[in-house]
Amino acid sequence: MADLDTSTADKQDKEYFTDTPQKVPDFFLKGSHQYDWGLKNRLSKVFNPKTGRTIMLAFDHGYFMGPTTGLERVDQTILPLEPHCDCLMLTRGIQRSIIPASTQKAIALRSSGGTSMISPMDEWEGELDGKALKLGRPGYEPLSYEDTAVDIEEAIRLNASVLAVQVFIGSQHERRSLQNLTKTIDAAARYGIAVMGVTAVGRAMARTPKYFRMATRIMAELGCHIVKCYHTDEEFETVTSCCPVPIVIAGGKKRPELDALQMAYDACEQGASGVDMGRNIFQADAPVPMMKAVRGVVHEGMKPAEAFQLYNDLKNEA
Ligand code: 5RP
Repeated sequence: MADLDTSTADKQDKEYFTDTPQKVPDFFLKGSHQYDWGLKNRLSKVFNPKTGRTIMLAFDHGYFMGPTTGLERVDQTILPLEPHCDCLMLTRGIQRSIIPASTQKAIALRSSGGTSMISPMDEWEGELDGKALKLGRPGYEPLSYEDTAVDIEEAIRLNASVLAVQVFIGSQHERRSLQNLTKTIDAAARYGIAVMGVTAVGRAMARTPKYFRMATRIMAELGCHIVKCYHTDEEFETVTSCCPVPIVIAGGKKRPELDALQMAYDACEQGASGVDMGRNIFQADAPVPMMKAVRGVVHEGMKPAEAFQLYNDLKNEA
């Protein structure tokens, strides 16, 4: 029990700061200022409040690809990278089996799934690069045929800050994937957990600014707190500008390290709130130096050439 406050002179002995209005703190993250406390606190673990940006390390590929190159042994390849990112994007299986529960990093939990990469991307017939193309095999569910794959109680047990749901705009099962998204948003809203819509791309879905403007905006309108999409060489600033919540970019297929750093730099300059990158980090020639170089670009104001120099210096030291 607290000691009694024995002061008798009440007002004279106390300081009520009556001339100072109580501060109304602002919130640093785009579109997020009207959320509740718990959700803001979780987002502050994902995004660095000093820079407003995040480095999410994506290694959830196994959920539909199995042991992807660089992820054959997550304990060997990903744990050394963990200290240098802000958030781990992963599946619950890898989280429980490999990631130490003592980690201080935010968790972005893969929450949709159900088909594998040997399923076709979509049942689709048309023309691509001037050639007739037919996708889809009878008897196979296409990749877009996903379900939600994690209960909200399980997400709470795993202390997730973000739930990641794949969304297949323009695909055969667009509606189903959008329902997976909105059901997850409703469940997560009860507990102040953020939801990230992940833009799926495939041969039948063009990686154009027009496509990403539409896909990211639809996800934000439906209630996503974060949207993930790919960077485009042109007009990317229009994608970030018309999306009212933070956008993080996927890295995509492995490219030369300098190109990947340039892409991360351009995306942030064009309004992205960071990266959710996988293969361009864990498949780099030197993954820890690459992770540190990406950090330089996203959080420390480095230009791509400077970050690439850092990458090479660290690589040569090792
Ligand atoms: C799968 C995902 C992956 O997490 C993400 O795309 C992987 O990142 P990268 O493309 O940088 O390897 O969302 O759809």
